[in-house]
Amino acid sequence: MARHPLAALILAAAVGLIIAAVGINATPNLKLPGFREAPAFRNGRVCADAPMIHVAMTLDTTYLRGSLAGVLSILQHTSCPENVTFHFIAIAPFHLLRRTVEASFPSLPFRIYRFDAAVVRGKISSSVRRALDQPLNYARIYLADLLPGAVCRVIYFDSDIVVVDDVSRLWGINLGHHTLGAPEYCHANFTTYFTDRFWSDPDFPRAFSGRGRRPCYFNTGVMVMDLEKWRAGGYTRRLEGWMAVQKKAVRIYELGSLPPFLLVFAGEARGVDGGSEESREDLRAGLAAALPTGFAGEVKGWSIVGISTASEGTMWKAFAAICIRGR
Ligand SMILES: *[C@@H]1O[C@H](CO)[C@@H](O)[C@H](O)[C@H]1NC(C)=O
Ligand SMILES: *[C@@H]1O[C@H](CO)[C@@H](O)[C@H](O)[C@H]1NC(C)=O
Repeated sequence: MARHPLAALILAAAVGLIIAAVGINATPNLKLPGFREAPAFRNGRVCADAPMIHVAMTLDTTYLRGSLAGVLSILQHTSCPENVTFHFIAIAPFHLLRRTVEASFPSLPFRIYRFDAAVVRGKISSSVRRALDQPLNYARIYLADLLPGAVCRVIYFDSDIVVVDDVSRLWGINLGHHTLGAPEYCHANFTTYFTDRFWSDPDFPRAFSGRGRRPCYFNTGVMVMDLEKWRAGGYTRRLEGWMAVQKKAVRIYELGSLPPFLLVFAGEARGVDGGSEESREDLRAGLAAALPTGFAGEVKGWSIVGISTASEGTMWKAFAAICIRGR
């Protein structure tokens, strides 16, 4: 059955909310929640020619449960789990986070990179949501710098994402000439992501002229990035350029790291969520199939108390809000 790449993915924003609600105090005597050891995930027989898939995620204390649930969901649903390499970006407590991943996934091939918060601290202007102002929220801009040059493609997942199908399908999407693939949502009013000051400026709106397609909102929580094109195009510096406008010149947007991405890539990203009725049906089926294992069985095993009490309804709500509404 021909299914669409994003039938694979559920953007479970609900998970993020629940994790936040469970809460972990960032005290000096920090104790992270205990996680059980995950089973070793082994390749199936079809993996001899499977590519190495590179996945990048951030790790911090607040969303640790979400990150680990995300890792688990990826491993559970891919037929070649030993061919997935994880790249974790963390600030602090660096060693404790690394040990937590090691203890939870003893056989996981992963690397952890220290993100220097100072790199972005002076570049972040306060937004309408404080959670968006965290330096780690901007780490996705620096993946091309942080990851080794040999990694030419990476899938970035936010820590509130649960994957319910084989991540290799997302990995395999054809980016064509695009640097970035992401779930697009063209029914949002694009105007509202920027201030009146932005739109009334003689120059700023021209950022969007000459784009391949009409600029649309896209979700930066799931991105397939061609790091070679990214590096060659100097996209980190371009994003920083807009952040500097926002911080030092005029307030051109209200949200955190998303608007710079829109300024640089809207209308130029390869949409990965399709929109046909058929793909939505697949997405529903994928979600239904994922719930019993992803959210009842394993989650209990992971003592993710908050998530295990999340009703199916909550999951569906997040799912509907992001993937079905208006499409
Ligand atoms: C994927 O795993 C298989 C073992 O099942 C291995 O033979 C293959 O080389 C791996 N692929 C890559 C690109 O490392
Ligand atoms: C989008 O939002 C802007 C500013 O709020 C408004 O002026 C415009 O009419 C809206 N467009 C649509 C299509 O709703």
